[in-house]
Amino acid sequence: MPRSDSRTKPVNRGIPAPSLLLVFIPIILVILGLCVTIPYLETPLPPMAMEAAVGGPFELRDGSGQVVTDRSWPGKFLLIYFGYTHCPSVCPTTLANIGGALDSIGKTADRVQPLFITIDPARDTSKVVAEYAQMFWPRLVGLTGTSSQIAQAAKEYDIYYAPHRDSPTGSDYSMDHTSVVYLVAPDGRIAATIDASRKAPQMAASITSAMNATRSPA
Ligand code: NI
Repeated sequence: MPRSDSRTKPVNRGIPAPSLLLVFIPIILVILGLCVTIPYLETPLPPMAMEAAVGGPFELRDGSGQVVTDRSWPGKFLLIYFGYTHCPSVCPTTLANIGGALDSIGKTADRVQPLFITIDPARDTSKVVAEYAQMFWPRLVGLTGTSSQIAQAAKEYDIYYAPHRDSPTGSDYSMDHTSVVYLVAPDGRIAATIDASRKAPQMAASITSAMNATRSPA
């Protein structure tokens, strides 16, 4: 039997190569799309994985200058968002949606303490950040601290932030920062990581479903 016969036979003779491409390109596009989209969806990430990666102790100051920590609200879920009061749009939009979400969940919101932690302590004094936070929701607590306290808190919650100057000589600046909302269970574990661009109703649904899924310790 001549060797060339078996070697040159295309294996997939029934399916011409272009058709194969037509099959695989959409599959590859879907996989790429999922890779881009999945990080932005609300978690239900495995608690163990999240515990190791995100969340931890912090020590900051509230509007009256009192020291507060992650243990200052025992038994409550903490809804934590990092941002800054000079933020032109993302922070105020997110805080408005947080306020709307908490309004819409009724008495369930009693079990939630929302916190707005500034990543711009140079401008956001305790009074400034506290008054700003209260504009969005009456019980939204604004927190600041020293640069190192803010850096520590941001590191625990995996928040990147850096000043961004449009001109090298200008004194005005904006802050680049990670925009994500964390729901922290009373035991300190992350109950949900919520896409900060979600509107109030979706945010409310994420908060309540994560709270329902988190069994309080017996
Ligand atoms: Ni912002």
